Amino acid sequence: MTSTFNKLLLVCFAGTTLCEPLVSCAALPIADTLFVNGTIHTLDTGSTTVVDGALAITNGTITCVGTEVACKPAVGNSTKVVDLNGKAVIPGLIDTHIHPIDAGRAMLGCSLRFQQLTQDALRKVIQACLDRQPGETGLLMVTEFDREGFTTINGPGNKAMLDLLNTTRPIGIVASNQHNVFVNSKTLQLLNITRDTPDPPGGRIGRDSKGEPTGFLEENASGPVRELGGDRGISQIDASIAALAQLRQKGITTILDALQGRHDAWTKLKAQGDLTVRVFTCFGVFGSLDFPSIVAQAQDVKKTLDSGALVANAPGQIWRHVKFFTDGVLPEVSQSGFLLEPYLVDSGNGTWVPGKNFGIPNSNQSQIMEIITRTLDAGLNIHLHAVGDAAVRSVLNAAEAMNRTFRPSDIGIAHAELVAVDDRQRFGKLGIPVIASYQWAQKATYWADLNEKALGPERMSRVEAHAVLNDQGTLLAYGSDWPVDPLDPFLALSIGVNRQGDPQNRNSHASFGPQFVGRLDQLPGLSREVALRGMTTAAAKYLDSSDSIGSLEVGKFADLVVIDRDYFDEAAVPNEQLARNKVLLTMVGGRPVFTDNSTTFLPAEWVAESDRLNSNPVVKSISPGNILSRAVTGRACGSHFGHAH
Ligand SMILES: *[C@@H]1O[C@H](CO)[C@@H](O)[C@H](O)[C@H]1NC(C)=O
Ligand SMILES: *[C@@H]1O[C@H](CO)[C@@H](O)[C@H](O)[C@H]1NC(C)=O
Ligand SMILES: *[C@@H]1O[C@H](CO)[C@@H](O)[C@H](O)[C@H]1NC(C)=O
Ligand SMILES: *[C@@H]1O[C@H](CO)[C@@H](O)[C@H](O)[C@H]1NC(C)=O
Ligand SMILES: *[C@@H]1O[C@H](CO)[C@@H](O)[C@H](O)[C@H]1NC(C)=O
Ligand SMILES: *[C@@H]1O[C@H](CO)[C@@H](O)[C@H](O)[C@H]1NC(C)=O
Ligand SMILES: *[C@@H]1O[C@H](CO)[C@@H](O)[C@H](O)[C@H]1NC(C)=O
Ligand SMILES: *[C@@H]1O[C@H](CO)[C@@H](O)[C@H](O)[C@H]1NC(C)=O
Ligand SMILES: *[C@@H]1O[C@H](CO)[C@@H](O)[C@H](O)[C@H]1NC(C)=O
Ligand SMILES: *[C@@H]1O[C@H](CO)[C@@H](O)[C@H](O)[C@H]1NC(C)=O
Ligand SMILES: [Zn+2]
Repeated sequence: MTSTFNKLLLVCFAGTTLCEPLVSCAALPIADTLFVNGTIHTLDTGSTTVVDGALAITNGTITCVGTEVACKPAVGNSTKVVDLNGKAVIPGLIDTHIHPIDAGRAMLGCSLRFQQLTQDALRKVIQACLDRQPGETGLLMVTEFDREGFTTINGPGNKAMLDLLNTTRPIGIVASNQHNVFVNSKTLQLLNITRDTPDPPGGRIGRDSKGEPTGFLEENASGPVRELGGDRGISQIDASIAALAQLRQKGITTILDALQGRHDAWTKLKAQGDLTVRVFTCFGVFGSLDFPSIVAQAQDVKKTLDSGALVANAPGQIWRHVKFFTDGVLPEVSQSGFLLEPYLVDSGNGTWVPGKNFGIPNSNQSQIMEIITRTLDAGLNIHLHAVGDAAVRSVLNAAEAMNRTFRPSDIGIAHAELVAVDDRQRFGKLGIPVIASYQWAQKATYWADLNEKALGPERMSRVEAHAVLNDQGTLLAYGSDWPVDPLDPFLALSIGVNRQGDPQNRNSHASFGPQFVGRLDQLPGLSREVALRGMTTAAAKYLDSSDSIGSLEVGKFADLVVIDRDYFDEAAVPNEQLARNKVLLTMVGGRPVFTDNSTTFLPAEWVAESDRLNSNPVVKSISPGNILSRAVTGRACGSHFGHAH
């Protein structure tokens, strides 16, 4: 137990006030479910934990949190009483930056599964995908490509590596950071990209020393590849079904989809009763600067698709956010994150000196002001991608120049991977949250080798400064950015706290080899509580939904997770084991949507419901290896692929 936790052994809440023991508790509504014998981490403002605690749920809402004695009056003849066997309960996890449909497509399509691959191994996976689709002629889209890891082993990639594949099909390999695509000559030909093609605005065509396109298309230059189709043949609804299966299993009960156009997958799933997560969506148009049109479309989508207020026992879809990219990504292979000082280049003698590239800004400060103002004036919120210190500063400057008071839900800055020291206190002052991906604070392929050199030691010493930002008053919410990485919230929490990966967790780069083991840097880590609040209460605040979700309190929704090992018990779960946990039960609005098959204490009908959801043919069609965790790692892994798909 952390010392900040206040153990209250007898608490019974009715509404917002403590009730007289037993008297008004006797007036508790009859519960559908009463959990007993759990360690309940409420994450309320007092960080109350109830040991040997009980929690009652009526019609999807929490009606009692306290001791078993206090909540017992809620038991009627229809109440299911579930003994938690001393297991810990935490609020359902909220992921405020995620790409579920892209992730679902990756699960159902041709995936490189984030592995660090030799070029032979890469071709072997892709050839197997091609051979499984005889007769197909369209683009094969391949995903989950660890481009940085690949470059470390093979040097900068080249279309010739893909032209060796036995196919006449165009190929597009989307880097796991989603900001660039690696293509073969056939794709370049279809797109009419030659040495004479100029870089498009906001994008870059990779070229070799002779000016010949290499096959890498950065940022806005990658858009046309996506328009060729490829795995877009996997329907949105199938991709959504696949993603939901993973979200349930990982304990995620609310998400913010960070970029989508209008689609009806959630509408259909809700109608079937199979929507097992509360979905918020950011409406956006990648690469577009036509702000009036983006905001008008977002308003229209809200009018037609938004379910309105959140409902406890009926998860719905909320369309209240606009998405805009202010820059790209940092790794040396892309260098599109917008920086205050240029990326460093090798001067030829091993010394790295400032070059000419500052990254790719997608807009200047007055344009950022315009999109923020138009969005807020339309009654919507804005979710801004800003990675580099110059991009982050341009958002802060724009917000400051607007001279408005912002609510925590108005403007969210996603990523903020590199922040100037002078800017650290500005988020809190302006009331602008940061949506951080804790797992990026580990040693990883994207921070190693040329990436590290191109940023240089000073900038490397202040990447992913999550705890520093939190200490300076920033509201810190968590966003996985799945499928940029495998979806693994406990690994993310562990890295947030420890600033290092877990060599025993194959989703962590620490499992790639000794060079990725150990602390990324000397910046402080998050406390366990702050890290989890980023996935619960702080995330709920960012989504302007604190009255319904984020904590386990009477009157809030019964979105909760039972976990195998008590996250807050430092004696039972030392820091180095924080990533080794699993979800036993996920409940959304009082409905059990996932049960782990190792548990024995959950009602058989709950297990049956979990199995029923997972018996969907789409879920069953996901190859075991394609669950977006790295099935195998390492450099000499060609032989593992025969059976992988
Ligand atoms: C249960 O909740 C639903 C939706 O929140 C509501 O429509 C319904 O009236 C509630 N039922 C009872 C018995 O309170
Ligand atoms: C509960 O029990 C009472 C008395 O035995 C019975 O009248 C009532 O129908 C039962 N209610 C339910 C929901 O089973
Ligand atoms: C609570 O669960 C623990 C762990 O399984 C068990 O030892 C204990 O007997 C249970 N207590 C009650 C009151 O059921
Ligand atoms: C290339 O693929 C075709 C079928 O598409 C097959 O007949 C041929 O043997 C393959 N060639 C090699 C070298 O594997
Ligand atoms: C490529 O050029 C051809 C011939 O000029 C044209 O028909 C085609 O539309 C172009 N494709 C793209 C993607 O621009
Ligand atoms: C990206 O390309 C599109 C289409 O060519 C263009 O309209 C848009 O302005 C570009 N985006 C940026 C940020 O330059
Ligand atoms: C390497 O080159 C840079 C500039 O080109 C120069 O400033 C530096 O002194 C050189 N370093 C060594 C070790 O030669
Ligand atoms: C921002 O960019 C727009 C579009 O290119 C341009 O019209 C405007 O002058 C720029 N504003 C500033 C302050 O640079
Ligand atoms: C900001 O707004 C306040 C109150 O509306 C006003 O008094 C102040 O002059 C404004 N400052 C600037 C720089 O516009
Ligand atoms: C539980 O599920 C896992 C993964 O799906 C599977 O490997 C295992 O055999 C299952 N165990 C039982 C007892 O069903
Ligand atoms: Zn994203």
